Amino acid sequence: MTASTTQRNDLASAATRPARRPRMQAPVMLETEGWADYALLDSGHGRKLERYGRYRVVRPEEQALWTPRMDASVWDAADATFVGIGDEETDGRWRMKTPVGDTWPMRYDDIGFLGRFTAFRHVGVFPEQATHWQWLAERIAAANRPTKVLNLFGYTGLASLVAARAGAEVVHIDASKKAIGWARENQVEAGLPDLPIRWICEDAVKFVAREERRGNRYDGIILDPPKFGRGPKGEVWDIFAALPDMLRACAGLLTDNPSFLILTAYSIRSSFLSMHELTAEALAGRDGVVESGELVIREEGGGRALSTSLFSRWSADG
Ligand SMILES: C[S@@+](CC[C@H](N)C(=O)[O-])C[C@H]1O[C@@H](n2cnc3c(N)ncnc32)[C@H](O)[C@@H]1O
Repeated sequence: MTASTTQRNDLASAATRPARRPRMQAPVMLETEGWADYALLDSGHGRKLERYGRYRVVRPEEQALWTPRMDASVWDAADATFVGIGDEETDGRWRMKTPVGDTWPMRYDDIGFLGRFTAFRHVGVFPEQATHWQWLAERIAAANRPTKVLNLFGYTGLASLVAARAGAEVVHIDASKKAIGWARENQVEAGLPDLPIRWICEDAVKFVAREERRGNRYDGIILDPPKFGRGPKGEVWDIFAALPDMLRACAGLLTDNPSFLILTAYSIRSSFLSMHELTAEALAGRDGVVESGELVIREEGGGRALSTSLFSRWSADG
């Protein structure tokens, strides 16, 4: 074999050799069965009946194409029903059966937080995220070293509280002043006022760009971007346009010895494979494992499985 042939072969194999990337695992269905203060009681006919602490709540759920199992009288007796009138999350209002307070107390794994009926049909917690909370808490505890976590689009702060309680120093970013205020209330309600969490009202894209410039790094990153959102100064967030750059930037914010990255995406007409490949691309050159699939809630008593969102997550210790 001539030298030039050898070189050509090397070039050919370099071109076809798969680039180093994490091990890929999909589809993965991560199921939440509920806990003392949360249950999916029934679903069907485009709605779901859930228990959030002391209240039973009915909300629209377009994935529930099937027929409800419980009698209509059980649904009618719910304390609060969100009556949607259009496709948009804000097109609707709550109809209350019983007088309800402004807020009510709930707990997840001994972390107290407040429920609240919002104009966006949400009540302050996305219960299917519990599977991620447990996973990230395990990773932070197992790392057994100071861990810095960045929670982007962090909403009312449950993931931040779980991470901080597990021992991490947390930076929590959300564009909504109300959400940041609620997250601060939750820190008090959780009985964890001294844990190191910085609550910052800021556009996630701008914050990430600034951290990149400053050279600040994180051992774990959580991002749960909406399909469409606005930063505090009207900055537009559109998941399809902005997610690739955002994920690449997040990968660049990881420390030299990072632990995890968790991406969740709601309400997007996409496949978990899109998240899977994008996450793997953003983390190219690393070991570990990327697993992707859907976050699912199981009806109480082992009933049907309701898909809520797509996810992709990477762990350094695959
Ligand atoms: C789907 S919620 C997150 C749910 C939360 N991670 C949980 O598990 O409870 C999306 C959040 O993104 C915030 N948001 C929207 N656009 C944003 C932007 N450009 N920068 C930062 N946060 C934004 C919203 O205020 C909202 O609180």
